[in-house]
This record gives sequence, C-alpha cells and structure tokens, in this order.
Amino acid sequence: MKKEIKGYSKLSKMQKIDWLTDNYFNGNQEVKAELISFWHEDLTVQNRFDEFSENTLTNFYMPFGIAPNFLIDDEMYCIPMVIEESSVVAAMSKSAKFWLDKGGFHTAIIDTKKIGQVHFIFSGDHLKLQEHFSSIKAQLLEGGKYLTVNMDARGGGVTDIELIDMTAHEPDYFQLKVSFETCDSMGANFINTVLEEYANSLKELVNADTGFGDTPLIIMSIVSNYTPDCMVRAWVTCKIEDLGEVNGVPAEIFAKKFKTAVRIAEVDPHRATTHNKGIYNGIDAVIIATGNDFRAVEACGHTYAARNGRYSSLTHCSLEDGMFKFWIDLPLAVGTVGGLTQLHPLVKRSLQILGNPDAQQLMKFCAVAGLAQNFAALRALTTVGIQQGHMKMHLLNILNHLNASEEEKTFALTYFKDKVVSFTTTRVMLEQLRSAKVKDGR
Ligand code: MEV
Repeated sequence: MKKEIKGYSKLSKMQKIDWLTDNYFNGNQEVKAELISFWHEDLTVQNRFDEFSENTLTNFYMPFGIAPNFLIDDEMYCIPMVIEESSVVAAMSKSAKFWLDKGGFHTAIIDTKKIGQVHFIFSGDHLKLQEHFSSIKAQLLEGGKYLTVNMDARGGGVTDIELIDMTAHEPDYFQLKVSFETCDSMGANFINTVLEEYANSLKELVNADTGFGDTPLIIMSIVSNYTPDCMVRAWVTCKIEDLGEVNGVPAEIFAKKFKTAVRIAEVDPHRATTHNKGIYNGIDAVIIATGNDFRAVEACGHTYAARNGRYSSLTHCSLEDGMFKFWIDLPLAVGTVGGLTQLHPLVKRSLQILGNPDAQQLMKFCAVAGLAQNFAALRALTTVGIQQGHMKMHLLNILNHLNASEEEKTFALTYFKDKVVSFTTTRVMLEQLRSAKVKDGR
C-alpha cells in the first residue's frame, strides 16, 4: 500500500512532480520530463494556469476547434468547442450546413432568474415566523444591500425572498428561497455571499430574545444549480418537403422517423439518457470553451429532464401543417464575466469568436449547440446509422494508437471508405500493409 503524504500542497511544483514520479512511477525521469513538456513556455501564462486549481503539475491538453457556418437569428457565427470525442465537431458543422439554407437556427430567452437557498431548522413558533416574514424579508434585503449594490447598479440583484415551509418533508425544516438576477455573471459566488449574509441576519432577527421561541439552526446556504427559470429556447423549422432527401431517405419518411426518434426519447429514460448525452456533447464543448461550469449546466439540464417524475428528452419535434419543427428548452446558468472568462487566454478568444456575447447570448449559443448536435445524431441514427460518421472519425484515433504513419493514415482513410472500421480490422489492415511493404522492399 502507498504511504500517506502530509503537506503535499505545500511542496513546490517540482517537488510535487518528484514525489509523484518517485512514488507512482519508480522514479522514472521520462515521466517527469513528459509532465514538464506540457508546461507552457511562457511562465506567466503557466503560473496563471497553475493557479486555476490546487496541486497543479502540468496542463492536460484537449482539442479546441470551431464549428463554422452557424446561421443564428439571421447572423453568421463560428462556435468554439473544446471536446475530445471525435465526430462531435464534425456533426455540429454538418447540422450548421444543413440548416444554413433553411432559415438557420432561431432562439429566444424565456427567463434569467437564478435561485439560492438558506436551509434551516426552526423549532420555535412556526406561525409567528410566517406572520412576521414580510418584515424579516425587508430587513434582510436592507441589511444585504452593501453586498448587492454593484449588482443592483448593473440591473440585477435580489428580486425576491420567500419562506418555504418544508416541514411536511422534515420536522422544523424551512428554506429561504432567494431569487437573483446576476446579469452577465454566472453568479454562484455572488449568490453564496449574499445567502451567507442572510443566514447570519436571520439568526439575529429570529431568536428567543426577539420572541420567536428559538433561533434557527442554519444547515447550509448555497446556490441551487437547478435554474428552471433561467431558460432559453432554440429551434429550427422548415417545410417538410424542404428537408430534401436526407442520406437517401425521402423528406416525408425522414421527418416521420425523426419525430418518432424524439418521441422515443420522450417516453423511454434509457433512450432519453443517450439522447440527452448527445445534446450535452454540443453544450459542454461550448461551456468549456467559454470557461463556464459544465457540471452545473449538466446537473441542471438532467434535473429539468426529470421534472415530470420520469427522465425524458430535452428536445421535441412536431410535424404540423406540412412544417417540420424541432426545438430545445434548455435551463442553464452561464456567465461571460468573472470566473475564467478574463483569465484563460483561449476562453477570451472563444468569447471574441462569438462576438463577445452577454450571458443571454451565450445561453442562446449553448442551446443551438445542443440542438444542432441532437439533430446531427438523430439524422444519422434514423438514416445511415451512427457508425458511418462515428467510426470514420474514430479511425484516426485507432490509427494513432497503432502508431500509423501519415502515409498509412491516408491509405487507411481510403481503404475503409466501404469497410467496417474496428480496432481489429484496422490492425489487420496495417499488418498487411506493412508486410506488403517489407516484401516489396519499400
Ligand atoms: C455519442 O456521443 C452520442 C450519441 O449516442 C447521441 C445519440 O444517440 O443521440 C450519438
């Protein structure tokens, strides 16, 4: 068993690398050199990366790419994406191209409200708490003003505080449910700071001395990542006949199969999970490229997908009056100021590529990315199948894994045009190619 190390975080970066190399790689200096080789050559930039997190040893590279030709609300955009899964960017680009001459993507912000909660136990006089809540609320708002003044000036701040009686679920359990408008910031830090202030004030305002019979026991104060009222819609629509022949499938049949595929994800949680995973292939890639929190965004979307008691599709499709309509309602909280947005050089570039959007515009781009990704997946699934596009991209990963040369890769891309790609078929092809070369004396 490995030995515990105390004070690892206090070591210098090089000491941390040495410790790891010694204890997990038998002191292999190649490993140490490899870790160092991924440092940025500009130490100022590297220091900044180091400080994003703790115990940073090096950088972990991910592909950064763009999906061009997105017509969104009558403007053309390139969408920056950070993702390791082959074929996601290609799928997005295909969707963009498909909808380019059909009116493109359309979006609307439905709401931008965010929620934070102070969870507390109160065993005093419940009725009195409820009766006096409007006065308590006014005092909380007033007392927290010193924290919200800047956000207020930007048009945001605290928009409401409600007392939620949760005693039916847990004895004496109440919440302060606080609604926020956080403008262009995602707002988690701001929300948490304000909540902690309210929690402290609540204890001062409500206690035995003030006649409430007891002091609230604050359990925790924290932003809720579930933001069903911070919502964006994106959609595409066209005449069914304008869908044209899709991968050899006539428009009418394609539209029906597509709608049924969406319906299956609406009614079957097993399919819905994969369906929504594909949606987040697009969304997460944009979220990461723009320095946002993909865990928060995913958690929110999955909760929303299960809001009716059964996990279901985030996208929907209708075929009415000869029109194909496909849309997503996406709850998510994102920011274009604060966090990594000004610190990570490539996040800055991503935002520039998107025209320096405000938070609402970024919500729209994310919804479009999710919808486009889902359209591409269902388009392939309901026509030629997913492997055709998927495995061709995956082929490059397999070839790299097998150390194929550039010449071998070019050969393989042509060779597999009409064959099934798998690890084994690729290995066998390479072996045959290499032994033929030896025989020819090449
Ligand atoms: C793969 O990452 C995503 C898909 O499975 C999504 C889907 O099935 O809809 C292709």
